[in-house]
Amino acid sequence: MAVFLKMSVFLSYFVGLVMVGLVSSAKFDELFQPSWAMDHFIYEGELLKLKLDNYSGAGFASKSKYMFGKITIQIKLVEGDSAGTVTAFYMSSDGPNHNEFDFEFLGNTTGEPYLVQTNVYVNGVGNREQRLNLWFDPTNDFHSYSILWNQRQVVFLVDETPVRVHTNMENKGIPFPKDQAMGVYSSIWNADDWATQGGRVKTDWTHSPFIATYKGFEIDACESPVSMAAADTAKKCSSGGERRYWWDEPTMSELSLHQSHQLLWVRANHMVYDYCTDATRFPVKPVECEHHRH
Ligand SMILES: *[C@@H]1O[C@H](CO)[C@@H](O)[C@H](O)[C@H]1NC(C)=O
Ligand SMILES: *[C@@H]1O[C@H](CO)[C@@H](O)[C@H](O)[C@H]1NC(C)=O
Repeated sequence: MAVFLKMSVFLSYFVGLVMVGLVSSAKFDELFQPSWAMDHFIYEGELLKLKLDNYSGAGFASKSKYMFGKITIQIKLVEGDSAGTVTAFYMSSDGPNHNEFDFEFLGNTTGEPYLVQTNVYVNGVGNREQRLNLWFDPTNDFHSYSILWNQRQVVFLVDETPVRVHTNMENKGIPFPKDQAMGVYSSIWNADDWATQGGRVKTDWTHSPFIATYKGFEIDACESPVSMAAADTAKKCSSGGERRYWWDEPTMSELSLHQSHQLLWVRANHMVYDYCTDATRFPVKPVECEHHRH
């Protein structure tokens, strides 16, 4: 597999330690493969299009699993009427106690804004939805969507602006996802039972096919071969001794001051739902929300 990956190893010195990061910015097929509905994939030069019609949606998955690092994909969402459709980009581990970090883009009728729903699953339990609208039209052009994951935090970024942080609060007894390698996934499907205006607006199939377009796949993360045992992955992917991954640098353990301000701006101007403030759903505030600084 390694021979097919265009990888460059960046080595630099930082307070006497060697920083290691595997940067892999590559063509779709070097990192990913279709996981369902191959006949709903359209390849156009550097662009990949996934198609949803009344027969099927489509999805792809990374060939490898990863533990910590940063994953970025550029997406141009479904143009025009996208009501009822959901395009998702996420990382997930396997099994009943899986961890998952989700971006879900909820379509809308022509001219009405897309919503971005994020969620975090820890040990198989999600229910941590947040929703925001965007400060641009995500159907007009490509924008980058990233997930940064290290031992201290999971950060969701849109064009490098943090829109959500899930902080490690193990010191408060709250589990944090850091012991399972994760795959990277994306898909488009029909979710008109819930996605648009609470499921009131259904998918209008006369407007299909619905097409999400992708480019610029970047995985800068610690690769965990599928055959590798969890303990070996944990060892390989943690900084220690002479090896230091860039995402374990002290500056990566929390947002910079500038990023904190960006996140406050997003929350003040673009957040439309936060599970932490939904007292109807959670009469008792979820534990991690009690400790949220934001
Ligand atoms: C899907 O849509 C096409 C074109 O609108 C139509 O001809 C076909 O019958 C539809 N198929 C199904 C399974 O609904
Ligand atoms: C769709 O547009 C309506 C009206 O502007 C808005 O209330 C809703 O939040 C938008 N997004 C979704 C996914 O329903």
